[in-house]
Amino acid sequence: MEKLVVKGPTPLKGEVTISGAKNAAVAILPATLLIDGVCTIENLPNISDIKISCEILEKLGAKITWNNKNSITIDTTNINTTKAPLDLTSKFRASYYLIGAMLSRKGEIEVGMPGGCKLGARPIDQHIKGFERLGATVTVEKGTISAKAKKLTGNSIYMDIVSVGATINVMLSAVLAKGTTTIDNAAKEPHIVDVANFLNTMGADIRGAGTDMIKINGVEKLSGNATYSVVPDQIEAGTFMLAAVATKGDITLKNCITKHLESITAKIIEVGGKVEDHGDSIRVWCNQRPQKANIKTLPYPGFPTDLQPQMGVVLSIADGASIINESIWESRFQYTDELNKMGAKITAQGKTAFFEGVKKLSGAPVYSTDLRAGAALVIAGTVANGSTEIYNLEHIDRGYENIEEKFRKLGAKIERVTE
Ligand code: EPZ
Repeated sequence: MEKLVVKGPTPLKGEVTISGAKNAAVAILPATLLIDGVCTIENLPNISDIKISCEILEKLGAKITWNNKNSITIDTTNINTTKAPLDLTSKFRASYYLIGAMLSRKGEIEVGMPGGCKLGARPIDQHIKGFERLGATVTVEKGTISAKAKKLTGNSIYMDIVSVGATINVMLSAVLAKGTTTIDNAAKEPHIVDVANFLNTMGADIRGAGTDMIKINGVEKLSGNATYSVVPDQIEAGTFMLAAVATKGDITLKNCITKHLESITAKIIEVGGKVEDHGDSIRVWCNQRPQKANIKTLPYPGFPTDLQPQMGVVLSIADGASIINESIWESRFQYTDELNKMGAKITAQGKTAFFEGVKKLSGAPVYSTDLRAGAALVIAGTVANGSTEIYNLEHIDRGYENIEEKFRKLGAKIERVTE
């Protein structure tokens, strides 16, 4: 078993380069199934979710060449099965994108029920509603989702809930459909725009991504033969920004889009941090104990749920009492039990958590309960006095490229140890 051992406290200082966005990349990879040919994808984060995605695509018949650890060339000319490997697809959430992509490509697909972080109920009714509006039949039985469509025809779709996954999935299924599809109440996250940009680069006709109304004019085929670079990861960037504040450090983030970081920047300034925005890089520093603040997570451009646990670490040591309201997921406060083991005083009830700021945290053995909780514990370990041992690293490795190396370069005393 592997664990991370972090010895703190250390103010994190220096430069860090942000990787490509996980949540864009896990959609762009299945989107290559829409291309009858070859394309190259760069700035892919080197994380386990990407390795599993590539393995699944290879099992479907794609040929993948790794150009370096962050770039692949993928040939999807010969997709020879419509049964995705159930064991691999149930390992992560984004396997649901195979449904939209394969409905477009082959008119048929069978995948295992998507896995991923346990954040409460994660229904996919809006995905299914979208596929059905385009003419597909979807059945969910014995842990397997099967979708079929003789022909997909454009239609208007109103999303009852703002959903990242359903917006992207419907986009994937509509790109090659006959006629025009509109998605109303669409999600607006940077990764939605990135997937649309990727598909448009390959020949799709998608307009309005990044607004709440997306219009997709179906095209005959996507030609490929292009190179696409994945957008920088908004959440990895936010994680390092909040690490700078929590550790009273000074970090410059390279390769980020600061426009995507506005809600985080606003909250950092509110808690007493300082931010210098250079467009594609950002400097964040903090010379004082963070101040209290209240947070409500919301779909983009609101404060992202995927940064809620990392913000929770900042508020756990803030001067004063704070409240976080989690409006997206039912169970995203599991990390608070772990922070309490380190001396935090947090009471979580349902979708609300109360933070009574403490002056310091102290090292303890803790368990990463999901991906972002894991990142929060790495920050907490860097803040805390003494040694913190973080277990369940498989969650962190799903979404952060070289987390310990990036933290170490900023001065953290962090080691991966095999027990
Ligand atoms: C994506 O999950 C991300 N995952 C999540 O990131 C992120 O937390 C989430 O969006 C919100 O930003 C990927 O992109 C792979 P949703 P997704 O559909 O698409 C409800 C991380 O740490 N809903 O936007 O699954 C749902 O229950 C992960 O990187 C329905 O009711 O999220 C939730 O309350 C964790 N019916 C809300 O909508 C549906 O059909 C938003 O979910 C779909 C969703």
